[in-house]
Amino acid sequence: MAQDSSPRRIAIAIDGPAGAGKSTVARLVAGRFGYVYIDTGAMYRAVALAALRAGVEPGMTGELEKLVSELDIRLEPGDVVQRVRLNGEDVTDEIRSRAVTSVVPAYAAVPAVRARLVELQRAMAREGGVVMDGRDIGTHVLPDAELKVFLTASVQERARRRYEESGRAQGMTLEMLEEEIAERDRQDASREISPLVKAEDAIVLDTTTLTAEEAAERIAALAGRSIAEAGRS
Ligand code: CDP
Repeated sequence: MAQDSSPRRIAIAIDGPAGAGKSTVARLVAGRFGYVYIDTGAMYRAVALAALRAGVEPGMTGELEKLVSELDIRLEPGDVVQRVRLNGEDVTDEIRSRAVTSVVPAYAAVPAVRARLVELQRAMAREGGVVMDGRDIGTHVLPDAELKVFLTASVQERARRRYEESGRAQGMTLEMLEEEIAERDRQDASREISPLVKAEDAIVLDTTTLTAEEAAERIAALAGRSIAEAGRS
């Protein structure tokens, strides 16, 4: 039988704390290989927004379970950022508001929320050819991903990036952002279910002194190796 010479389409998991550059870098890597980029943080943000609007608090487990089971969340490619639709409405900007950002970790710690979103994320990755970023992709969502990267950077640098990106426009100071990011790290790393931890087999990449392009370049090189290896097995 003729050998299939087209390269294997692998799954790339990129995890790490807020502001480490995951989404920018993941988008660049996905573009390089013609893969689909999936921003799982946007999905948790969409759930938090829907819950805030409906007046459903993180502790209202039954209501939250019902709400999340009825939500239609879609990620669509956009010019610069991925567009996020919640029951058809474009909520791309609203899910990045301070009000939503500060409550996402509380909703993301609820088992029913995670179960539903993980199910959707695995379905999106079924065909391979994906770059997925989040907190638990390498450890839980895609434990068999051919390449796992854990992106980090100092809290100061992460706050500075967020300040340039959106913080300044939202009227936040660098100090406020540092605090917000450190608090979110704490909540994400200490929750009981799928906390933010590095997968044992993930490669750590500290981006404190790297540009997004440089970080993407390094990941693309690793991905090239993983694709070649996957093709041999
Ligand atoms: O972009 P940023 O790093 O600020 O955060 P994000 O990726 O949009 O994620 C927002 C929040 O969603 C995180 O602080 C986590 O609480 C939660 N999240 C999660 O629990 N699991 C994921 N796979 C992705 C995000």
